[in-house]
Amino acid sequence: MNITHENIAEEYGNAVTSNAKGIVAQTGNAKFAGYSVGELQLIPEGVAETSFGCGNPVGFSEVQPGQTVLDLGCGGGLDLILAAGKVGATGKVIGVDMTDEMLTLARKNIAKSGFTNIEVKKGKIEDLPIDSQSVDWVISNCVINLAPEKQTVFNEIARVLKPRGQMLVSDIVAENLPFWVRRSGLLTVACAGGAISEAEYLSGLAKAGFATYRVIAREYYNAGQMASIATSALPDFLAKRAFTRHLLTHIAMPITKNLWSARIHAIKA
Ligand SMILES: C[S@@+](CC[C@H](N)C(=O)[O-])C[C@H]1O[C@@H](n2cnc3c(N)ncnc32)[C@H](O)[C@@H]1O
Repeated sequence: MNITHENIAEEYGNAVTSNAKGIVAQTGNAKFAGYSVGELQLIPEGVAETSFGCGNPVGFSEVQPGQTVLDLGCGGGLDLILAAGKVGATGKVIGVDMTDEMLTLARKNIAKSGFTNIEVKKGKIEDLPIDSQSVDWVISNCVINLAPEKQTVFNEIARVLKPRGQMLVSDIVAENLPFWVRRSGLLTVACAGGAISEAEYLSGLAKAGFATYRVIAREYYNAGQMASIATSALPDFLAKRAFTRHLLTHIAMPITKNLWSARIHAIKA
């Protein structure tokens, strides 16, 4: 099924306005989503619950004080706030997202955080509203799998990074996914149907001109955890139904070996 930007934005907009609970809230386990308890203590109450990520790109990065960090598909802004803590007052953090409701949520969460060095911009990650060679780090958390044109995204990341700039992405990757997962609109919005393999990721980064690119960590999920991730993108009234969870766990069972979350690091030439 061909999922468009408009479909994705509508679903994530609905998720936010219908009070969907992100992955941390669904699982009740921040560590499962890749964050340490210490990191989550640094962010304002309620912000972790608005995260829809599948990892912790800032935690795996080596962002330094004074640097500029760009987050692709920043959502509610948890990773923006963690990055702002790392770059400090002399650094800058920029988030780009195409969904108005997510941008509103991010602005609210950023205001709660008190950081004044975070800016969010509306835009598509295939056509970033960011100057060429202007950022030190590109991070992203569970977003690129949703982009229909992934090579365009890799090219954009290479364009906006300064020479020797770095990318740290957490994303769902997949191998030999059954056709019914690829065809499902729900499973595509839930970050499964559009996922590419690690090999495709790395060859896309090579084509974009990165000097080095590798997978530095992987997180595998059982069927119940996969169901939690999918549930996190659903409106609250659906997510709360035991039937939804049972159905998604059942759907996930045959594909637990086919999908995982990878942390991918790359350095621009
Ligand atoms: C699964 S959520 C992850 C949000 C956030 N990174 C987090 O960890 O909570 C995906 C986000 O990416 C945004 N998004 C998806 N495709 C996009 C695209 N092509 N351009 C810009 N934003 C996109 C959605 O609006 C949504 O906020």
